[in-house]
Amino acid sequence: MPNFQNQTIYQIYPKSFRDANGDGLGDLRGVIEKLDYLQALGVDMLWLTPFFKSPLHDNGYDISDYLSIDPVFGSMEDVETLLREAGRRGLGVMFDMVFNHTSTEHEWFRRALRGEPRYLDYYIFRDGGPDTPPTNWVSKFGGSAWEYVPQLGKWYLHLFDRTQADLNWENPAVREELKSILRFWKQKGVKGFRFDVVNLISKPAVFEDDEQGDGRRFYTDGPRIHEYLKELVADAGIGGMVTVGEMSSTSLESCTRYTNPDERELSMAFNFHHLKVDYKNGDKWELQAADLDRLKQLFIDWQLGMQEAGGWNALFWCNHDQPRAVSRFGDDGIYRKESAKMLAACVHLMRGTPYIFQGEELGMTNAGYTSLSQYRDVESLNYYPIMRDRGKTEAEALEVLRQRSRDNGRTPMQWSAAPNAGFTEGTPWIEPPENYHTINAEAEWQDADSILHFYRRLIRLRKENRLVSEGRIEFLCTDCPGVLAYRRYLDGAELIVCNNLTRAPVHVSGFPIPEGQKLLGNYPDAASEGGSLLLRPYETAAWQRAERPAAGAPLPG
Ligand code: GLC
Repeated sequence: MPNFQNQTIYQIYPKSFRDANGDGLGDLRGVIEKLDYLQALGVDMLWLTPFFKSPLHDNGYDISDYLSIDPVFGSMEDVETLLREAGRRGLGVMFDMVFNHTSTEHEWFRRALRGEPRYLDYYIFRDGGPDTPPTNWVSKFGGSAWEYVPQLGKWYLHLFDRTQADLNWENPAVREELKSILRFWKQKGVKGFRFDVVNLISKPAVFEDDEQGDGRRFYTDGPRIHEYLKELVADAGIGGMVTVGEMSSTSLESCTRYTNPDERELSMAFNFHHLKVDYKNGDKWELQAADLDRLKQLFIDWQLGMQEAGGWNALFWCNHDQPRAVSRFGDDGIYRKESAKMLAACVHLMRGTPYIFQGEELGMTNAGYTSLSQYRDVESLNYYPIMRDRGKTEAEALEVLRQRSRDNGRTPMQWSAAPNAGFTEGTPWIEPPENYHTINAEAEWQDADSILHFYRRLIRLRKENRLVSEGRIEFLCTDCPGVLAYRRYLDGAELIVCNNLTRAPVHVSGFPIPEGQKLLGNYPDAASEGGSLLLRPYETAAWQRAERPAAGAPLPG
């Protein structure tokens, strides 16, 4: 089994990372340029979101050829250079495999559209008249999940955009195609795979209307999912690689199976429950303040549940689909630095493998866009009119996008105070937030107290301290509102971590005030006061000590 417990994985969204050729879009040469930065940060593996041939309706998650590189990102030679140069620096590279669907421009789909039976069976087509889709399922990007093809008299399923047709995993030929894609990249030297929305690949045997919802209960963690994953991993020979599944609306029970090593499925899983605590009634497009009690409970349930069942979590706040954590759960104004560090420590010291999304290590904020014309994301552009139809005013709909749009995580990486944040010498495909003049990698390298250096310490700590990588976890002060505290323990040593998730100072009484060495914190001095612990706004602190002998136990010596 690969050693991913002490690793930290860095996610790169190439389109927004660094543009080496001046066309305004980030590219693979841009990633190669920045490998020294990534090595100095100390991460172990780079997950790159898709750069394969694609019409880019969903920024590369709509793949039209899994084995070639989209020219906007570079060439196969660039990929080979990247793998080699990353390897020289001790960095593994993880590719993103989008196997739930292909682009409708994929050769397989084109041939299906021409009516070739072999390829019709690669997708999920259903006969029917043009007015009634086979089921009432809703696409995750809005509207019906079915699209009608008049020349065939059939509908096809697309759980995402209509240009992303779902593959038919029931068909063994499809599964063989996907395995050979994995073998191809493995042989090129890729060290890991991230599987996009992989828990949606197994559809029900019978398609029926969902009277209670949008259809997801029929295909989420679907009937043959474990069988498919086991087969894919075994036959493609990727059991020894680092693998992570993106799990949409999943359950703890399913994720323990996906990630328990005995099951031989995946190394770890992303779940998103903790990133829905600010969705009103579960609806992303309705705002509410984050429910911190719920957030805390979800961490507790998932950490303990995975620990008990021998599963493994991918730990994260940010990715290319999420708003920036510091703007969302922290304070991107006066407490930006404190809250960004607290959020980092909070997940990096838990049990699991942490992921850093480009720019998170700088405390990058949401985009702050004020006009629809600044957005690029297909989901945002699809949902804006839907929100207007549902009765939101223009200002209200824009406010929802300002907080929820995926573009908040897709603004250019802020390298320096140079024009366009040092991302491009051309015109960026998407605007950087104004604050790049002060929030950027160059400035943070100079500042020993920066968020960036705090991340470097967390990454190093996970590598050097087995309490962080291997320790068991239990939660402390669980009834203390706004405080997320836990204890990691191993071989008689312990690490105590305390986080104030709020901007109000809190006194925590009855907390075992640690006497040991303070390992890490985001305020310069000690946090304890008298008999109780005082946590200042967004304070995080971690202490390590050797465990006290249990009461009555003989003292050593
Ligand atoms: C995943 C990706 C997202 C993409 C979707 C469809 O959720 O992270 O960016 O739009 O899958 O492929």
